Amino acid sequence: MQIGILGGTGPAGSALAARLASVGHEAIIGSRSKYRAMEVVDKLQAEWKGRKLNIVAGDNAMAAAAEVVVIATPWDGAYGTATSVADLLEGKVVICMANALTRTGKEFQPLVPPRGSVAATVQAAVPKCHVAAGFHHVPAKELGDLDHPIESDVLICSDFPHATEVTAGIVASVGNLRPLDAGGLSQATPIESFTAVLLQLNVHYKTRVAVKFTGIPELAPNSAEPARKAKPAAPAKADEPAEEGA
Ligand SMILES: NC(=O)c1ccc[n+]([C@@H]2O[C@H](COP(=O)([O-])OP(=O)(O)OC[C@H]3O[C@@H](n4cnc5c(N)ncnc54)[C@H](OP(=O)(O)O)[C@@H]3O)[C@@H](O)[C@H]2O)c1
Repeated sequence: MQIGILGGTGPAGSALAARLASVGHEAIIGSRSKYRAMEVVDKLQAEWKGRKLNIVAGDNAMAAAAEVVVIATPWDGAYGTATSVADLLEGKVVICMANALTRTGKEFQPLVPPRGSVAATVQAAVPKCHVAAGFHHVPAKELGDLDHPIESDVLICSDFPHATEVTAGIVASVGNLRPLDAGGLSQATPIESFTAVLLQLNVHYKTRVAVKFTGIPELAPNSAEPARKAKPAAPAKADEPAEEGA
């Protein structure tokens, strides 16, 4: 799949581009400056020489022309970035991974953007696109380290089942990432703000945590839906003749 990343020159977007390209997607790193994107792509290609990653550089408009678009800007740049390419986003699945956070000393604090989340702000800015929130809790460093698998659950929420489905397929295409359908876009508020908790854990335990939920049944391949177990044949009633061979 062709996936464009707006603000793809930062740690999160470039790591996502590398990881998605490593599993066969075409990633387009978008930027406000095509030259900055070219530098980042050159760096990734040099770092992962020999892997033949399908990553190309462009401006944000070029990334927004892709089949599926990811928003990987800081929270306060997401609205302006989305509206600047609004016509290119119409009718598309747009995955918003931005978290609204601030840091005061050693403390990470969640912010509440207009409409409660960055994802909802983007959805309101471009009503004709189909926003899914996802990838908020996946640490960029581990995401971009292609020598090691990254294991994490990825909470996805959207008001469009199709957007959740497409996002889940992309998440599941990355080996050990598990997509989970967390409901409608209103869930983006706690999903985004929970990132502050994870970052606080990182500070306290001097590590980088990832999210993994227990109690979730086995999922269908490439999906956030439970695997449907084959229904066992109903036992024949005593007064019914048993069916003879096929
Ligand atoms: N870092 C992580 O581990 C991680 C993990 C999950 C989610 N996230 C979320 O992903 C988003 C990106 O994270 P990051 O660490 O990569 O952020 P970042 O480095 O601060 O920003 C990413 C890119 O966004 C562009 N940008 C910066 N300010 C902008 C503005 N005002 N308007 C439009 N574009 C702007 C820049 O690209 P150009 O200058 O090239 O345009 C920059 O390279 C954040 O919202 C973050 O919360 C981060």
